[in-house]
Amino acid sequence: MRNKIVAGNWKMNLLKEEAQSLTAELIGMIKDEVSRPVNVILFPPFLYINALIQQCNVESRIQIGAQNCSNNSSGAFTGEVAAPMLASLGCKYVLVGHSERRSYYGENNRSCASKIDIALHHNISPIYCIEETLKERESNIHFTVIQKQLEEGIFHLSKEKFSNCILAYEPVWAIGTGKTASPDQAQEIHHFIRKAIEKKYGSDVAANTTLLYGGSCNDQNAKELFNLPDVDGGLIGGASLKSRSFMNIIKSMP
Ligand code: PGA
Repeated sequence: MRNKIVAGNWKMNLLKEEAQSLTAELIGMIKDEVSRPVNVILFPPFLYINALIQQCNVESRIQIGAQNCSNNSSGAFTGEVAAPMLASLGCKYVLVGHSERRSYYGENNRSCASKIDIALHHNISPIYCIEETLKERESNIHFTVIQKQLEEGIFHLSKEKFSNCILAYEPVWAIGTGKTASPDQAQEIHHFIRKAIEKKYGSDVAANTTLLYGGSCNDQNAKELFNLPDVDGGLIGGASLKSRSFMNIIKSMP
């Protein structure tokens, strides 16, 4: 059975005290309200990772991840944060290839591939984000775009290494826009991704790979999305910044 995950991508939001009180609220609410085996991963800004890992020690269902890492392991790269540094804090997950990184910071499938390699080398599971723009969807090339992101960014991995990765489909046109993919659109592309994994790594790997949906997922639409056969949870931006809305999303997991 594959892991069900609800992840909160805080992006560049929240001051230290706000981050700590949001985390404290979530710890309390998860303890009181969630009996199902759902894993929660929070992706705070780098600065808070260490403190939040200590804070979450009491709630084993909350893990802390990083929003990015360098495509180098160490050295003269001013301003960068390396995967082994994250690993030394006890960080177990990293987002790779989020569309904001691809569009504002020049990341591409090749740089994503190196980040994934370095993260895995340090026992950090990458959550590889794949996505198409509105223009690509309207031109009906979204399947080709996704296939290319898979082939160039992650399909170089061996079967064993790929089994430690998670994928997140996050259509650019749905991120922060209030426009969610319809259940049919989400299922169609998640199914396509799972089939592509099956072709490359076989049916066992495909059946066990966790595929998250991201893009204006909220407490109104999460239930329908999480019930889709090929959607195993969500990567939540805006709606993860308030404990009640994020909790309602977590509780939408079937
Ligand atoms: P959103 O962001 O939920 O605010 O649309 C999702 C993401 O970018 O991970």
